Amino acid sequence: MRPAQIELPGCMLIEDAPLDARNTLRVKARSAWLAALSDPAALPRLLDFPTLRGLPLLALGAGSNVLFTGDWPGLIVQLRNGGIERIGETQGQVQLRVGAGESWDAWVRWTLAQGLVGLENLILIPGTVGAAPIQNIGAYGVEVARSILSVEAWDRERNCFVDLRADDCAFGYRDSCFRREPQRWIISAVRFNLAREGALHLDYAGIREELAGMRVEQPRAVHVAEAVLRLRTRKLPDPALIGNAGSFFKNPRVDAALAATLRMRHPGLPQWPQADGSIKLSAAWLVEATGCKGLREGDAGISERHALVLVNHGAASGAQLWALAVRVRDAVHMRFGVLLEAEPRVLP
Ligand code: FAD
Ligand code: EPU
Repeated sequence: MRPAQIELPGCMLIEDAPLDARNTLRVKARSAWLAALSDPAALPRLLDFPTLRGLPLLALGAGSNVLFTGDWPGLIVQLRNGGIERIGETQGQVQLRVGAGESWDAWVRWTLAQGLVGLENLILIPGTVGAAPIQNIGAYGVEVARSILSVEAWDRERNCFVDLRADDCAFGYRDSCFRREPQRWIISAVRFNLAREGALHLDYAGIREELAGMRVEQPRAVHVAEAVLRLRTRKLPDPALIGNAGSFFKNPRVDAALAATLRMRHPGLPQWPQADGSIKLSAAWLVEATGCKGLREGDAGISERHALVLVNHGAASGAQLWALAVRVRDAVHMRFGVLLEAEPRVLP
């Protein structure tokens, strides 16, 4: 019989590892192998280990943006390296390097405690720093790409560590080169550029009203963070209380002609014009209009609080959750002719 755990230099390798506590949708699944690494330098030897060579590879952070529809047949790598390192300071801008395994929310709160500006709108997003560039996390009018200097990663194509400048990461709305080629990259650290003083982003719906409610007239970054925290807590279900992965669908972008037709037929549908001429539509509105908000099939459901959030009421399997998501996607497609794309990575 093969051993259940193997100790390799800098890492513990577990065979047939349970994933239930490693994804926020709380889906029961297993991985053929799972390796937790405290030091990314151990990666090359791990990937060259004879038992693991050639297996499908998945880098996993906190599992807050994945849906396991079945067991993972290969190797899962979890980087646990944390740490925040100041690497430079120029003209009111501070450069910092953060380990991939650091908690995203803890890192945002650290920047606020240091009086740094740039990440306040991104407070309370679950997950790790290493996953943040994958879909270029965004919230309340800000995307992380604008604060990223570069991304350090193991490149499986060239078998070496690289440091990719932000301009080379192809960042877009919930998109990056890492998301497009998931088998190629394992992100080991992210370098950020933050300001000592800088413009705050207050234009996203609800922020100014929340600040007014807090009686803040001259907001600083900490106030904006508090306003976003209050809005998020009201709107989104807490994964600690009910399994979910945040928005399950991206907001779709359509061409101007389809947007105009939809505007005529559905004046209430929120539309946001994009720089490239396309129009972004509210996926939540589209889902709600099909009557799917609050829908439940067994333990798989659509949140009653937010139409874009797929929830696990208890024991839903990944396949059941995915079946419900497909049903919602098809309902929106039939009614509006708009095809929604899943935001989380659907595995295997
Ligand atoms: P995981 O779920 O573990 O992985 C997500 C993807 O990244 C997978 O494809 C995985 O393979 C890849 N990946 C992870 N780590 C690495 C690495 N080191 N190297 C290479 N690939 C890697 N997202 C937003 O953008 N905005 C929001 O406002 C937002 N709100 C959310 C609210 C809730 C309640 C929840 C549950 C999720 C929300 N999300 C949001 C989604 C999620 O938090 C982010 O996508 C987050 O960055 C995922 O981090 P993670 O560590 O959990 O990644
Ligand atoms: N709406 C509905 N029904 C609902 C919820 C929302 O019709 O149940 C409509 C409302 O008109 C509302 C609009 O949708 O004004 C936008 O809603 P919200 O502000 O909640 O934003 P969203 O587009 O649903 C996006 C991100 C979130 C991010 C928020 C805030 C995507 C896919 N989702 O949601 O990110 O936190 O904006 O910026 O872009 C995530 O990616 O997991 C995530 C939670």
